[in-house]
Amino acid sequence: MTSPSPQSDAAFAVTHTRLKQVGQEHVLTFWKDLGEAQRAALLGQIESLDLGSLPGLVRRYVTHTPPAMLPSRIDPAPSYGAGGGVGGGLGSRSTRNWDVANYRRIGEDLLRAGKVAAFTVAGGQGSRLGYEGPKGCFPGGAVTGKPLFQMFGEGLVAAQRRYGRPVPWYIMTSPLNHEATVAFFQEHAWFGLDEANVSFFPQGVMPSFDMASGRILLSAKDQLATNPDGHGGAIRALKGSGSLADMRRRGVEHVSYFQVDNPLVRVVDPTFLGLHAAARDSSGEMSSKMIPKAYPDEKLGVFCSVDGRTQIIEYSDLPRALAEEKGPEGSLRFIGGSIAVHAISLDFLERLGTDPSFELPFHRAEKKVPHVQTPSGITAQPQANNGVKLEKFIFDALPLCGRSLVYETDRAEEFAPIKNATGVDSVESSREIQTERAARWLEGAGVRVPRRADGKADCVLEISPLTALFPEDLKGREIPREVGAGASVAL
Ligand code: UD1
Repeated sequence: MTSPSPQSDAAFAVTHTRLKQVGQEHVLTFWKDLGEAQRAALLGQIESLDLGSLPGLVRRYVTHTPPAMLPSRIDPAPSYGAGGGVGGGLGSRSTRNWDVANYRRIGEDLLRAGKVAAFTVAGGQGSRLGYEGPKGCFPGGAVTGKPLFQMFGEGLVAAQRRYGRPVPWYIMTSPLNHEATVAFFQEHAWFGLDEANVSFFPQGVMPSFDMASGRILLSAKDQLATNPDGHGGAIRALKGSGSLADMRRRGVEHVSYFQVDNPLVRVVDPTFLGLHAAARDSSGEMSSKMIPKAYPDEKLGVFCSVDGRTQIIEYSDLPRALAEEKGPEGSLRFIGGSIAVHAISLDFLERLGTDPSFELPFHRAEKKVPHVQTPSGITAQPQANNGVKLEKFIFDALPLCGRSLVYETDRAEEFAPIKNATGVDSVESSREIQTERAARWLEGAGVRVPRRADGKADCVLEISPLTALFPEDLKGREIPREVGAGASVAL
């Protein structure tokens, strides 16, 4: 306990009054027990909140469960097929004929002109994986165990070599993993990229609330319990960090957005970028990649069309009846699953960051939040969900676009997420998919790959983007003519 200074008394009085107006003055319960530095830190945290908005948020999302705001009529969103349209590639879900080579050229021109940036959202807590550090440091390479960040970095080095211009890379961290993320890049010499072309900024946080009372929880006597504000927080953080201005200065026009958990992601995909920027039915604002869902409960957001606008309904919000509904061909009617890869124009990001009518909604999630109880000061370790966290999702920007395009791609080519420690979307399943993609590419180049009776490759394979960004890059490379059964090969 410290002797109070007059300044800190005055700050207490002002802040207490403001908090009382919004029903949150309990966060100052332990003020008398705190030293000057602790008081300053707590006041700083309180200052960073938009206090005026709290009562409305609490009423709308915390003490009431908002009704699922599903529109009365939802249709599946149409998509472009990977093979170039009807009859090519992925069949009848693709409703348009289109010239793949033409759009690929357009995308390549954007890359050659330095008009594309990469953007990774890496601020999540990664709690499902049970990994201590930032998720991007997780060893994701099927054979090499390369960190996920390295796999993306190599993709960008390869893109720079191919197109002759650097692709500036923006990485959104959170206050919880920012320093560790930056240190990791320093230790690894930015994975061969020019440090000047890699920037990091932390996303914002939201307070965690007590589910019953709507009061902000305290993680310590001098600290509010908080959680990252969701990848939708990117809109504010991109602007606030100066990243949008930096992009503008560099002449960037489009941003290739991807999550930190997918080692097979094409960090910049010329065909997708070309379609996004130039297709007649794209406004060039925000486009998305999709894969056909494998089964109704697969945890993928689903592409829908509502009043002619594309939107993603998160898997947890999609009613079971719709998730299971079959189309005329017997496949899932709502089959378009999001792999969380988007192309977004800088103009659109700027508009999202400034136009209040483009404000994204919050989503509510219940969770167990350890906290210091008031007024007792006893720490509670809840066994059941006691708290609510509020997050924004970037894909809620889709229906704000004029016309938003969906591009269907092949799962084994581009989606091998690592989300869980075991089972679905785990290291093991990712290793299998990485191997399958490499096996296809090698077989396409005439290499014999051992396969088991069930058709799966009987080996573990990994191809770095530095060796091949596309299957055709393997031609002319020094590669083995055959892979031995049970072998592990990294190229
Ligand atoms: C996500 C998508 C889902 C999509 C699937 C594809 C959401 C809400 N859902 O599911 O529609 O089909 O991926 O793999 O995104 N992140 C932040 N800051 C945050 C929260 C998350 O940067 O505050 C980042 C994470 O680091 C991660 C990504 O967002 O890169 C996804 O987060 P997560 O909550 O794990 O979403 P999923 O349930 O995997």
